[in-house]
Amino acid sequence: MRMKKKKNGKERLNLLSNLIVSDIENFYKNKDEIYNENKPLRIEIGCGKGDFVCGKSTQEPEFNYLAIEKIADVCTLAVENYAVSRGLGALAPNGGWKTADGKIYPLGESVRFGKEQIGNVRFAIGDAKEMLCYFPENSVDAIYVNFCDPWSKKGHTKRRLTYIEFLKLYSKLLKPDGKFYFKTDNRPLFDFSLEEIEKSPLELEYHTFDLHNSEMDKTNIRTEYERNFSEKGFSINMLIAKNNK
Ligand SMILES: C[S@@+](CC[C@H](N)C(=O)[O-])C[C@H]1O[C@@H](n2cnc3c(N)ncnc32)[C@H](O)[C@@H]1O
Repeated sequence: MRMKKKKNGKERLNLLSNLIVSDIENFYKNKDEIYNENKPLRIEIGCGKGDFVCGKSTQEPEFNYLAIEKIADVCTLAVENYAVSRGLGALAPNGGWKTADGKIYPLGESVRFGKEQIGNVRFAIGDAKEMLCYFPENSVDAIYVNFCDPWSKKGHTKRRLTYIEFLKLYSKLLKPDGKFYFKTDNRPLFDFSLEEIEKSPLELEYHTFDLHNSEMDKTNIRTEYERNFSEKGFSINMLIAKNNK
């Protein structure tokens, strides 16, 4: 995701620091303090502006969610969108955060929300490559990757988030019955992903080349990229693979 550097990006992130995991390497150890309730953990990699995790966490609230995004300014937008979607206020017109009860927190401060107010989602700036440093093996209920960069050049295959080494990593982190969910508009990337799954410890459970005209669309949460590509006439591919280690 390309984005101009955000003005006051760090301060904006700091305003909502309650929703952000700053020490991701110690996240798992501290997760009982981080979330309000102890629930199975789901992870979204490359959450972009956060549409998916906002929708999914409301649709299936019996899980805790961690949305990981490697670009700090993009993560800021995701956190702000989530806070708005949960009725926690909005950006104040002159900077800062205005809570639902009208109190304004200026840039430089952090809003102290109660844990019960902020629901079952937290955000972290992090890189999928480092996930083994963030989570123990067999600890995750589901991993979601939506509309990742296709890295189309031949020499860039290993960067794709469905390259075999990433799939092996997901398998390690997932519980034995955990699942990997993947969506993309990019058919060559999707075909590549199906082939990589075949070689991996994951087992393909479901796939469609036209999600929006499938049964699965009833519960599908559309992401920003998904809406954009779909409006341009691309059909959306989706797969679900279960752990089989
Ligand atoms: C094309 S955007 C899609 C955003 C969103 N998932 C959607 O569907 O609208 C991909 C996002 O993944 C993030 N990303 C790419 N590689 C990543 C990685 N290795 N770890 C974490 N985030 C990553 C990018 O910064 C970008 O925000």
